Amino acid sequence: MKTRTLGKDFTVSAIGLGCMGMSHGYGQPRDKKEMTELLAQAVDFGYTFFDTAEVYGTPEDPHANETLLGEALKSFRNRIQIGTKFGIHFDMSSPATNKPIVPDARPETIRQSVEDSLKRLQTDHIDIYYQPRQDPAVPVEEVAGVMADLIQEGKILHWGLSEVDADTLRRAHAVCPVTAVQNRYSMMARWYEPMFPVLEELQVGLVAFSPMANGLLTARYDSHSHFEAGSDYRSVMPQFQKDGMEKNQELLQWIRELARLKGATPAQISLAWMICKKPWIVPIPGTTNVGRMKENGAAADIVLTADEVQRIDDTLDQLDMSDVFGGSPTVKD
Ligand SMILES: NC(=O)c1ccc[n+]([C@@H]2O[C@H](COP(=O)([O-])OP(=O)(O)OC[C@H]3O[C@@H](n4cnc5c(N)ncnc54)[C@H](OP(=O)(O)O)[C@@H]3O)[C@@H](O)[C@H]2O)c1
Repeated sequence: MKTRTLGKDFTVSAIGLGCMGMSHGYGQPRDKKEMTELLAQAVDFGYTFFDTAEVYGTPEDPHANETLLGEALKSFRNRIQIGTKFGIHFDMSSPATNKPIVPDARPETIRQSVEDSLKRLQTDHIDIYYQPRQDPAVPVEEVAGVMADLIQEGKILHWGLSEVDADTLRRAHAVCPVTAVQNRYSMMARWYEPMFPVLEELQVGLVAFSPMANGLLTARYDSHSHFEAGSDYRSVMPQFQKDGMEKNQELLQWIRELARLKGATPAQISLAWMICKKPWIVPIPGTTNVGRMKENGAAADIVLTADEVQRIDDTLDQLDMSDVFGGSPTVKD
């Protein structure tokens, strides 16, 4: 697969693999043996960039995803990059399907998290370490200071922030240069586009999470699709509700037609659109299926001209579509 450089020198596959859904958030965790095989096949296909977090798991096995990746990827470790995240946990006592996020970015918590993640990932370094949400009790400058120390110690090579705005990014970057932000970005979630000039100015990459709007943009789901309440966040996401689905029909029909004209699939078009927009955007689509992993990875080869990207943006500006999931609430206990 083609590669891209995030920040000044962090080279990764042009499309990364989002691993969350293997263990968290999209129904019951998938079979470990199957996911281990999928991860090996992803490396074989050319993916080098794998995304996880210490909190991707279940109440019974809260760190399952890091453990899975550690085991599955250890024999490829010297030719892949792993991104993981610290500084939050889910409020598992909540009855909500999308559990509230509780931030905790105290330096002592981060220190413990990094050691635990290194152990689970069976590695001596994390390629990129993200703070996923801001902790109102800990200024980002203090977190950046801890990141500088971890880089100095060789425990992490790069760091980033997720769901971060331009001002917070600037403050963090001034203390310890940030390599990438990991923000929600898709044809349905374009609210970070005004931040692009700042990313360009600071030479910070964008790792786009939920790049297919949690799967909606693949045009695979309809109003009959069933998502398990309690374990599958899609059961409460606005784009998958009956009225949301109805509202999104025009969008999905348009993506199908675009895909047909390009000899591609809707999933591939939704990824190619952002890759062709900026050379420093790397989407991390999630999948638990080998065929779809390959389909998504092949989007790295689809070329859309600047005119085509602009025409897609113009159409997206006009199209009526439902709200899209914007993340679980963040609460400070
Ligand atoms: N920083 C953060 O706060 C944050 C939040 C959420 C996610 N993330 C990261 O971003 C990654 C990706 O986001 P995401 O998984 O939420 O959303 P996504 O990549 O937009 O969509 C994933 C969903 O689409 C389906 N899918 C994938 N490829 C497909 C294809 N070619 N055709 C049809 N269906 C397809 C998958 O189902 P199958 O498994 O059945 O293929 C899965 O349910 C996560 O894995 C995680 O690593 C980060």
